[in-house]
Amino acid sequence: DILRVVTNEFSGLHTKEEKYNPFPWYKNMREKHPVYYDSKQGVWNVFLYEDAKRVISDKDAFSSKKSKELPLQNITNIDPPDHTRLRSLVSKAFTPKIVANWEPRIQDFTKGLLDQISKKNTIDIVEDLAYPLPVMVIAELLGIPTSDRNQFKEWSNSLVAGPSSTEDIQETINQKNKATSELKEYFSHIIQEKRKKSLEDIISVLIQAEENEGKLSAEELLSFCIVLLVAGNETTTNLISNAVYSFVENKTVWETLKQDPTLIPNAVEETLRYRSPVQVLPRRVKMDTEISGYKLTSGQLVFAWIGSANRDENKFSNPEYFDLKRNPNDHLTFGKGIHFCLGAPLARLEAKIALSELIKRYSTISIKEGYQIDPIESSFMNGLKSLPVIVE
Ligand code: HEM
Repeated sequence: DILRVVTNEFSGLHTKEEKYNPFPWYKNMREKHPVYYDSKQGVWNVFLYEDAKRVISDKDAFSSKKSKELPLQNITNIDPPDHTRLRSLVSKAFTPKIVANWEPRIQDFTKGLLDQISKKNTIDIVEDLAYPLPVMVIAELLGIPTSDRNQFKEWSNSLVAGPSSTEDIQETINQKNKATSELKEYFSHIIQEKRKKSLEDIISVLIQAEENEGKLSAEELLSFCIVLLVAGNETTTNLISNAVYSFVENKTVWETLKQDPTLIPNAVEETLRYRSPVQVLPRRVKMDTEISGYKLTSGQLVFAWIGSANRDENKFSNPEYFDLKRNPNDHLTFGKGIHFCLGAPLARLEAKIALSELIKRYSTISIKEGYQIDPIESSFMNGLKSLPVIVE
């Protein structure tokens, strides 16, 4: 079962440095084992762009039903026709017009966070900005009190965590189950309140979809709220901190962006490719199929390593280079096909605003001396727990 797979068992990514910089290992896998079967755990792994793209988008051959043990059925782990119906309903809360309306609020939150640290010259990008911003935004969008946001973070951390060793497996599953039942109770309460008094937030929009059309079940509404919380938090935190890390790693970038802020959306896009917050997407083989001559059997698990696909030399020229002007930039970071990330416009907007505000305020930025890479504990995400920088 997907919840019981430990990628570190075969990945050769053990040190903190290797976990945050898996790219040399990916390159090696693309060259030597582009389609790799981990026989111990019975899992296929694909590292090339074309293969990863097919695995995540060929819905007839690869299913999103990855686990029987997952505590919650939700949009990310169902297939058509259920997925098609649910997706068309919840998309109503994510139209470009609705997303654009959020811009001033995101701007206010960002400025508020940076004002709080305006007197300091050493700041922590994660703690001071990348971590609080997405959770404030999602709390606002869902129309729930910002005061609950620490609890929110704890829940979403438990739900995205993957086991780092075989011994951890049961504990991680227990944690997920606990977080899920607490979240269900929390959101049931909120939804009840909003049924009485409808506002303009996403939950209220979805309650209308449920009540008017009777197509969205109460259970689906509840699990969608939980998905939004989980899918939109840690990923966006990682995008913002990975962007800043990429800027300090590639020294001319900050200066270039300061001179020409219209390049900031490109910088966001290139960060998405270069250091994807999500590195691996799992699927289950739905019907026997072949990849590059290897036979995959119905029921087997496949990992699409999108972090590697994004650096595939067959797809991107000079892939190990952070190129502010890369065009086209057809990375797989938000997925591909019917499950394409619903929150992509929002994630891009948040990152654009956060980075613009940082670049506007500070003329230089550098990593604090003595900093040791501090990656988050997740086998399928790429991000930092802390990133202390000196700003002037
Ligand atoms: C789906 C990545 C931010 C909501 C996905 C998928 C990826 C992804 C790769 C597809 C999963 C699959 O094919 O199995 C990211 C990244 C983000 C981000 C890298 C930030 C940089 C957000 C935000 C929200 C969000 C901010 C909402 C507030 C969703 C939802 C789905 C999804 C609802 C499920 C769509 C479906 O299954 O039809 N995301 N996401 N994401 N994302 Fe995001």
